[in-house]
Amino acid sequence: MQQICIAIDGYSSTGKSTLAKQLAERLNYIYVDTGAMYRAVTYYALQNDFFDFNGGLIKEDLIKALPEITLSFKSVKKNALPTIHLNGISVEDEIRNMKVSEKVSVVAAIPEVRRKLVEQQQKMGEYKGVVMDGRDIGTVVFPDAELKIFMTASAEVRAKRRFDELIAKGENVTFGEILHNVQERDHIDSTREDSPLIKADDAIEVDNSHMSLEEQYIIVNRLVQEVLVKGSK
Ligand code: DC
Repeated sequence: MQQICIAIDGYSSTGKSTLAKQLAERLNYIYVDTGAMYRAVTYYALQNDFFDFNGGLIKEDLIKALPEITLSFKSVKKNALPTIHLNGISVEDEIRNMKVSEKVSVVAAIPEVRRKLVEQQQKMGEYKGVVMDGRDIGTVVFPDAELKIFMTASAEVRAKRRFDELIAKGENVTFGEILHNVQERDHIDSTREDSPLIKADDAIEVDNSHMSLEEQYIIVNRLVQEVLVKGSK
């Protein structure tokens, strides 16, 4: 069976990773969460005090330290999904907190950071059989991906999903804080100079504001099957 590359881009908290994981499992493909890679670099920057007193990123320090940062995806337990490791240590939980969410868009806007991570992402998908989610997968990382999905949902719906997730994890956050973070990240991610979040011309838009996970999966899986059938003819 021919293997393809599936690029899933879109705004934060649109459920990209849930969908990507479902597809990867169904197709037995590799799943790559590129947001986790930008988050891990941000976590490294926080751990190493690369932010000044006003919370501004000291870019030169981070750029200088980039060769010291090694990212990999490994399973911590047998049969578990691989999780992001920073210099050999799993940081999957640490990268999901609000501190990282607040700083990640600024880190992801740095061209040197993007160049390093994009290179690694392209290597991970060079043999296809990959589902990758992020912001620039269909535009920059794999412009020739056989299937490109662009996911959207209203900011309020996305903030509510994220809020519920964080509350369930026991984080002390307010809905207003989360909505602000979602809107701020949308703005920084879509207006940055290097690889801004935009829908690729040949991407298919899926607005899941009023869709269940199941409905969304059925729609996208149908698109995958169409591409696979076309490719096998
Ligand atoms: O998907 P996420 O919310 O975990 O991503 C975190 C941040 O990383 C997001 O605000 C923008 C950035 N990002 C990016 O710039 N390019 C990607 N391919 C993936 C994420």
